[in-house]
Amino acid sequence: ETWAVLFGGPSPEHEISILTGLQAERVLTQAGDTVLPIYWAPAGGWYLVPTGTEAKDYLEGVPAGSKSIEVRVGDKPGLFVKKRFGEDELEPSAVLVTLHGGIGEGGGAAALFTLLGMPATGSSLFAGAVGMDKLAFGGLLGTAGIPSLPRELLSQTREPSFAGPYIVKPRFGGSSIGIEIVEDVASARAVGKASTHLRAGAVLEPYRPELVDLNIAFRTHPTLEVTQLEKPLRGGSNESGLYSYAEKYLAGGAGDGGFTNAPRELPANVAPAIAERAAELAAQVAEVTGLTGIARVDLLLDETSGELFVNEVNSIPGAMSLYLWAPQVPAAEVLRGALVEARDKRWVL
Ligand code: DAL
Ligand code: MG
Repeated sequence: ETWAVLFGGPSPEHEISILTGLQAERVLTQAGDTVLPIYWAPAGGWYLVPTGTEAKDYLEGVPAGSKSIEVRVGDKPGLFVKKRFGEDELEPSAVLVTLHGGIGEGGGAAALFTLLGMPATGSSLFAGAVGMDKLAFGGLLGTAGIPSLPRELLSQTREPSFAGPYIVKPRFGGSSIGIEIVEDVASARAVGKASTHLRAGAVLEPYRPELVDLNIAFRTHPTLEVTQLEKPLRGGSNESGLYSYAEKYLAGGAGDGGFTNAPRELPANVAPAIAERAAELAAQVAEVTGLTGIARVDLLLDETSGELFVNEVNSIPGAMSLYLWAPQVPAAEVLRGALVEARDKRWVL
C-alpha cells in the first residue's frame, strides 16, 4: 500500500519533525509499504523528497532532487481545495502526519486535510488545538477531575494563585523548547517579555524538581490501547532538574537518527499500582480530549506520596514514542494502525 508521510512544517520543532518523519518512512518501507516522503519547508513550500533521505540532507534546506508539490485552491477559495501528490498513480491511501508543534500539531493539518478530502492520521482540529494549548488542556483536566499541577496564564497584571519558584512554559510549545525556571512572578514576567518563545503566551506552573517524569502512549485503532509506562533517564549533566530538549533528542548518540536510543527505563521500574494508575489516567485523557491516532501522555510522579499528575499530552508524539509499544507491537504496525484508521474514517456531519 502507498502512504505519504508529511514532516517539517513551520514550528520550533521543525528539526524533530524531520527525524520523526524519516523514521516513519524507514519503518514503513522496511515493512514493505511504499512511502511518499513530503517535506514542508519552514518557508512554506511542500516538496516530494527522494526516498531514503537522512536528517543531514536537510541542513542546507530542501534536499537535492526534490519536486515541488502544489496545494491548489479552486475558484471558490476555502471550499474547493485540491491536492496532487506527484503523479496520479502515486496517490496515497492516507497521509501520516508527523508534524510537531505549531499549526501542524495544533489542528492546522487536520483542518487542511479535512478540506482537501484527504485521509490523514491524527486528531480533529478541535482535539489537536486543545492538546497544543497548555492552558486549555490544564483547564480540561481540572474540569474532568484528572489530577494535575496548578497551571495559570502568565499575566502581566494578575497575581498567580500559587507561590514560586515557577516553571514558565510557552503556552503553545513542545519539546521543552523555551522553558524557563524562575524564583518569583517578577522574574517570570521579565522572561515572558524577553523570550521569543514565551511572547506568544506563557503558562506558570509550580517548579517541583523532585517529581519524576513518566511517559505513556495510547492509540485509538483498532480500539483504545494504552502502552506500558516509560521512565526517561536523566543525562546527569542537567543542573536544572528539567527533562530537557538535549536529553530528549541529543542524548542517544549515533545510530538510528541518534535520539531514539535516549536512555530510558522501559517498562518503568515502579510499583504495579502506579503503572495501573498511569494507564487509567492515559485512558481518561484519551476520552476527555477526543484525541485519535497515536498520542503520548506525560505524567509526573511524587515518589513519596505515590501521587501521579498529568502534565502534558502530545497529539503527534516524536519518533522515540514508537518504542513504547515494543516489543509487543512492532513499530510498523503502530504506524499502519493510525494510517488505516485515517483511511477508513467516515465523516459524520
Ligand atoms: N513534542 C515532541 C515531539 C514529543 O512530544 O514527542
Ligand atoms: Mg510535545
